[in-house]
Amino acid sequence: MAETTMIMTSKAAKTKRRASSTSSSTTTYNTIRRKVSSMLFLQLLLLVVVIISVVILGIQMHTLESTFSSLSASSVIGIDSIIGQFFDQNLIKEGTRQQQQQQQQDDDDGGSGSDGKNEDKDQDDDTDDYSKKETSKLYDYDLENDQNVDEDLKPILKILRQGGYDISPSKESYQLINRALLPKWSEIMTAYGPPKILGLETSCQAFQNSISSKKRNIAPAGIFNTGTNLLSHLLGKNCVWEHRSGGNMWQPPWGKHIPAVRRTNHTHSKSRTPYYNTLPVVTIRDPYTWMQSMCRQNYAAQFDHDKSMCPNIIPYPDDILSHPRYGTMNYIPIWVKYDPEYKIHYDSLVHLWNEWYLQYIQFEENDKNNENNSIIKMKDPSFPFLMVRMEDLVFHGQTIVPQLCECAGAKFRGGEIQHVSAIANGNHGIEIGTGGYNAGLLRSVIKYGNVTKRKDGYPKFQLEAAHKLLDSRLMKLLSYPYEEP
Ligand SMILES: *[C@@H]1O[C@H](CO)[C@@H](O)[C@H](O)[C@H]1NC(C)=O
Ligand SMILES: *[C@@H]1O[C@H](CO)[C@@H](O)[C@H](O)[C@H]1NC(C)=O
Ligand SMILES: *[C@@H]1O[C@H](CO)[C@@H](O)[C@H](O)[C@H]1NC(C)=O
Repeated sequence: MAETTMIMTSKAAKTKRRASSTSSSTTTYNTIRRKVSSMLFLQLLLLVVVIISVVILGIQMHTLESTFSSLSASSVIGIDSIIGQFFDQNLIKEGTRQQQQQQQQDDDDGGSGSDGKNEDKDQDDDTDDYSKKETSKLYDYDLENDQNVDEDLKPILKILRQGGYDISPSKESYQLINRALLPKWSEIMTAYGPPKILGLETSCQAFQNSISSKKRNIAPAGIFNTGTNLLSHLLGKNCVWEHRSGGNMWQPPWGKHIPAVRRTNHTHSKSRTPYYNTLPVVTIRDPYTWMQSMCRQNYAAQFDHDKSMCPNIIPYPDDILSHPRYGTMNYIPIWVKYDPEYKIHYDSLVHLWNEWYLQYIQFEENDKNNENNSIIKMKDPSFPFLMVRMEDLVFHGQTIVPQLCECAGAKFRGGEIQHVSAIANGNHGIEIGTGGYNAGLLRSVIKYGNVTKRKDGYPKFQLEAAHKLLDSRLMKLLSYPYEEP
């Protein structure tokens, strides 16, 4: 910019010299007039230069600003999610960076496809706002003894309060939280049953016995869109380590999305922390909602899909028209680029879900299609880990989180858990009220509490494919019901 100004100024000086040399042969009156007009011209020129500079400066500021806002937006992304800067650096660097950033803004694992379209851009649910809020005031209201509140709604309201929402019978609260949209507790219990933590019996003692207390860490692991960021924040806010500040890690040294077979490969660790010092808490999600989520936000998973025909476990007739090669394929294949040198092919979205989790959980029997087999027996794991369901992190945090902390050798902070308001990868733009500083949790509660939504986007033939392909032992072990076609 400074350069531009200098060039313009010397041009202006030349113009001025020319102007003064030609004026010598004319009358005094004319000379003065020309001098005046050339000065005016110069001033005009300067004005133009200044305006241009200001405009350029403005553009640069704007660019800078949007760079920052997309950075911070991405840092909030993900129930899978509070996102972005935490998003696997390698995954972003490689390939479709632009597309992924765009997607992160468009979606999350929070919203339904249609929500995505009219979400406001202002998605930075600010967790700081939340922590600054006077949390204790929220507990002045005696929910338990409020006769006017449906008992079946109270546990849901409690969760929202853990996320910092005012649930008192105030006008503001009613404006922000449309209670007619909230799920009933009994509906959630019917859909998913009581909360589960796999591995408590086998892993906690083993982990604590093998790692000295000062070296223990806990970190979430899970495939994309399964609540790893949510879990990370729950651990960070609620697990306290006696001997030091650390212990709650954003991801394990091998990378939170990396398959368990690569656990001993420290590709993601900048520190020298050995992999075995970290107890991974593996998040898994209802495969029906998980696939919907992968359609909206695919991260490093590449598969051909049209948003209107997704989840596409098997090719849609229209897929075959636009990609004739799918006519010969049973499933829509998927490639996941975990890092630049590690790209894995899966036969379909369902295969990805099965195979990723079967690296953690192995079963005694090998007959994976025997649905009638009532005895599902997990093999003892070869290394300590816990597994939790994303749905339980949302609805049963109070039960789950303290046990996770303690399993790794940390202490639970105590009292009501602190939930995460800005859940997941930009779980933004709640359609209720003004959006609010922590709309994410509210939105998740509404969305995941509505079990009817599991079926959204699955025509009969995709439901049949899902039923046929989902590993029935995993489904049973985790109490995820099938959707009947
Ligand atoms: C670890 O990861 C790097 C980079 O992806 C790869 O080159 C290497 O072969 C891996 N090592 C093992 C033991 O898997
Ligand atoms: C499971 O049980 C149902 C009904 O009892 C039966 O129709 C089906 O063939 C059984 N499947 C297997 C794999 O045994
Ligand atoms: C639950 O989801 C279904 C399908 O998306 C929708 O039609 C229904 O209105 C939702 N129910 C509530 C109470 O929001």
